[in-house]
Amino acid sequence: MTEQTEPKVTMEKLVSLCKRRGYIFPSSEIYGGLGACYDYGPLGVEFKNNIKAAWWRSVVQERDDVVGLDASILMHPQTWVASGHVDGFADPLVDCKECHRRWRADDLEDAKCPDCGGELTEPRMFNLMFKTFVGAVEDDASVVYLRPETAQGIFVNFENVLASTRKKLPFGIAQIGKSFRNEITTGNFIFRMREFEQMEVEYFVKPGTDEEWFKSWIDERYEWYIRYGISRDNLRLRQHSSDELAHYAKDCSDIQYRFPIGWSELEGIANRTDFDLKQHAVTSGKSLTYYDDETKEHVVPYVIEPSAGVDRSALAFLSDAYDEEPDKDEIRVVLRLHPALAPIKAAVLPLSRNEKLRPLGREVHDSIRDRWMTQYDDAQSIGRRYRRQDEIGTPFCVTIDFDSLEDNRVTIRERDSMRQIRVPIDSLRTTLDAKLSGEPLEVLPPGGSFWLGFDDQSQ
Ligand code: GAP
Repeated sequence: MTEQTEPKVTMEKLVSLCKRRGYIFPSSEIYGGLGACYDYGPLGVEFKNNIKAAWWRSVVQERDDVVGLDASILMHPQTWVASGHVDGFADPLVDCKECHRRWRADDLEDAKCPDCGGELTEPRMFNLMFKTFVGAVEDDASVVYLRPETAQGIFVNFENVLASTRKKLPFGIAQIGKSFRNEITTGNFIFRMREFEQMEVEYFVKPGTDEEWFKSWIDERYEWYIRYGISRDNLRLRQHSSDELAHYAKDCSDIQYRFPIGWSELEGIANRTDFDLKQHAVTSGKSLTYYDDETKEHVVPYVIEPSAGVDRSALAFLSDAYDEEPDKDEIRVVLRLHPALAPIKAAVLPLSRNEKLRPLGREVHDSIRDRWMTQYDDAQSIGRRYRRQDEIGTPFCVTIDFDSLEDNRVTIRERDSMRQIRVPIDSLRTTLDAKLSGEPLEVLPPGGSFWLGFDDQSQ
């Protein structure tokens, strides 16, 4: 553990890169923005989709015991009575009597306004759920909530999934989707948003096996972040003490990441016991049990819940990937993103915007674009284009030069090391496939490939 070293990047640098390059913008910015809401730009949407795909691959596609679901955001209001959110999903709120700023009382160290030192009101409980209305009449009977977690969409579908898939315990249901919380404390970019995305699994197990499964999901999820590039030094586990456990949890551990704002929760793994199924059974009047063929008994399964934030994962992956290194008289900014997460996998860059290079450049681009998200760019100097691709995290650049017209070869430049190889155009697709899957650059494809050394393009 290297707690003493500082994170490589500040939040300001990340915010600026994300805006400049089209990863993340403040929401409705032309009107001054809306607090704690953000929009993912052209690169951000690819990146976010890649994170969700990587998660889905690992928790659904690579397992036999987890199936997917996509439940609606608006749910019957009784859902939130049963889950405890109507009564209990609240933070203590205080107002400053001088400047009228609002604070979460449990975030404050003393009883004064951190901004102006003014006197604060008595705390009052503030429910974090957004309310809206179904139908044309805005009365109490038509109130619905924007879901504050995706989990409840899974619990209310327990019976449907069980009956339609005939799964045996232990099995899980996974879901990715938007959640909404009217957060009081905001201001750390996409760390805490009012509209955000969650990736949650509710894993149903036989009572008595829950503690074992709790541990195994912690390991599974911890390793997922490392598999996709997060440094082990920037992750740690924090077990909740009994007085901070949520009302439904018997045990909970957070996977924390060393964000630019310090160590904070990236994902929570909770042992939710049989709380939710029992609550929904009582409130709905439906039996939500599992028939155990071996013991010939109906049981209410216990639930292990790994609950991750897409946006927090995005922030962690970006923070961890960000790097700066000297580059002649300048600084090279590189996003060393895992290839599976990088928004653009390869950029095709003719050496210059020369008429003679364009047809081959287009042809090369066409030969790979159906396979990966790629870019074709022939504006500005090649050095500047390399730096741009480094800054947005593109693992490989493919360069077409005048020799390519003669020898039918192109140069592949690796983002992280700036090393280059020259390969025949007809092996470009298989070579990129292998390199994006982790094959070292040293392994050259047959058919006349060779080393070119380092990219020495200056600005
Ligand atoms: N179903 C359990 C649950 O929702 P949580 O700890 O409140 O638990 C789980 O949230 C994860 O969702 C967090 O670890 C975080 O990654 C993400 N998350 C929660 N609130 C968020 C917010 N306001 N903005 C961004 N991500 C958030």
